[in-house]
Amino acid sequence: MPRKDVTGVSRSKPPKPRKKKEPQELNRNECTSMEDIRPAICKDIQAVFELNLASFAEAWSHQALMDVLDHDYDLDVWHTTRGKLAAYYLGQDVLDEVHIMQLAVAPAFRRQGLGVRMTRYILDKKHHEGMRHVWLEVRTSNVAAQHLYTGLGFRISGTRKDYYTPKPSGFPREDALAMRYDL
Ligand SMILES: CC(C)(COP(=O)(O)OP(=O)(O)OC[C@H]1O[C@@H](n2cnc3c(N)ncnc32)[C@H](O)[C@@H]1OP(=O)(O)O)[C@@H](O)C(=O)NCCC(=O)NCCS
Repeated sequence: MPRKDVTGVSRSKPPKPRKKKEPQELNRNECTSMEDIRPAICKDIQAVFELNLASFAEAWSHQALMDVLDHDYDLDVWHTTRGKLAAYYLGQDVLDEVHIMQLAVAPAFRRQGLGVRMTRYILDKKHHEGMRHVWLEVRTSNVAAQHLYTGLGFRISGTRKDYYTPKPSGFPREDALAMRYDL
């Protein structure tokens, strides 16, 4: 029964506002330009931290990601036009080699070509910066990433035995495939 207030008028609870759901599909104009990819700044780190937690067993701490901004790493972010972090790249250049350490697309935006576009952006940029080779390691079970990279021309150059140690979160000890791309 709805409660009555002192005036005798029945007072039912106002309906709860419905939470607006973020659409899973990107709109045509959302996150379409690779020119929107830019180096991360301090206020991007919280969202990068959350996406790195959602994407990697070897997630970096918030502090470690903050420290990246003051050191010789690349941390590039790509937001949707509504300001949501869609993808980021974390890597390091050593001499003429690029090491892709993390490249992640937000779960809601996967399988829509952003992974390919972000990787192409990095390859292009590094080519223009004069880098010669790109390296990365990927879990043997990470089929999605292997398909992404082989589809772009990366080659498997070897296996690193027990590269990934077991995690309390349930990730087992696992080998890594080392992948290489010549720019
Ligand atoms: C790997 C990852 C970056 C791919 O991003 P994405 O935006 O979904 O990739 P794309 O939509 O550009 O897909 C490119 C290709 O990758 C492959 N691929 C992507 N997701 C896949 C999946 N779940 N299963 C199998 N292949 C997959 C496909 O070959 C795909 O091409 P197709 O769609 O024409 O079949 C994303 O799944 C991710 O962030 N994973 C967690 C973090 C990670 O593993 N990063 C890579 C190691 S650094």
